[in-house]
Amino acid sequence: MKDRHLLGIRDLSKQDIELCLETAKGFKDVLRRDIKKVPALRGKTVINLFFEPSTRTKTSFEITEKRLSMDVLNFSVPSSSVVKGESLLDTIKTIEAYGVDFIVIRHSSSGVPHFVANNINASVINAGDGINEHPTQALLDAFSILEKKGSLEGLDIAIVGDIFHSRVAKSNIYLLSKFNNRIRLIGPPTLIPEIKNYNIETFSDMDKGIKGVDVIMMLRIQLERQGKGFFPTIQEYFKYWGLDKKRLAIAKDDAIVMHPGPMNRGVEISSDVADCPQSVILDQVTNGLAVRMAIMYLLSGI
Ligand code: CP
Repeated sequence: MKDRHLLGIRDLSKQDIELCLETAKGFKDVLRRDIKKVPALRGKTVINLFFEPSTRTKTSFEITEKRLSMDVLNFSVPSSSVVKGESLLDTIKTIEAYGVDFIVIRHSSSGVPHFVANNINASVINAGDGINEHPTQALLDAFSILEKKGSLEGLDIAIVGDIFHSRVAKSNIYLLSKFNNRIRLIGPPTLIPEIKNYNIETFSDMDKGIKGVDVIMMLRIQLERQGKGFFPTIQEYFKYWGLDKKRLAIAKDDAIVMHPGPMNRGVEISSDVADCPQSVILDQVTNGLAVRMAIMYLLSGI
């Protein structure tokens, strides 16, 4: 990859994305072996800095780093000097002084990974910044679509729900647009931002929006980021924009259902859909390992 940081998808080339997905295929084979660890990044040190909660991304990065034989440190924000008021800049400069090679960072403020990358020498990976981007999620989503549909081009893809607050949606829109897919954004008009310069259709009527699509990407309603009432009630949200079996039947027969997690079952997705054969939600989790191994390997420049 051209850059030594992964801060977002918007500035990645199609070739970089293809290289990452191809490399991830190789790592997926490695992960099927009895011994899943490779010496690729032995001697490199990484610190995982999660200023926001995470189950999937944090666990996935830690397993990835151990599979690549890295020395791994997990920074615990609540027991760090951040709670004594130490600034972000002093925190990362302190970490840099230990000679770390990679910083994986998640933060509630958009742009923090870019700020870190501008101030230190280590490679920085954005593990989700505010409502901006979640590039490793979009890459693992692309890998999962490619694996299930056999192609990443020319598909009809519905992204449904709280697009305004979703860094996953933004990164996916940037990535999927580079591959000539037809993207439909579906949800309450209050949660669909204007995204200029992209070939996107928007729908407030979910039944119309998911008609005949190949991929349905459901998004979590981000209750922690809802400053005001973007929709009347949870019950109404599910009625108009929730995915249940009846609605799933409107998509193509072989449509796949995706969700980055964590899911609000009964709010944006019913349990019978989340757990049905068309759901690839746990495949997305599994694929996160191979994709993050590829990203770290490529960024290391080895
Ligand atoms: N998909 C995702 O980012 O999940 P976590 O918040 O659990 O990491």
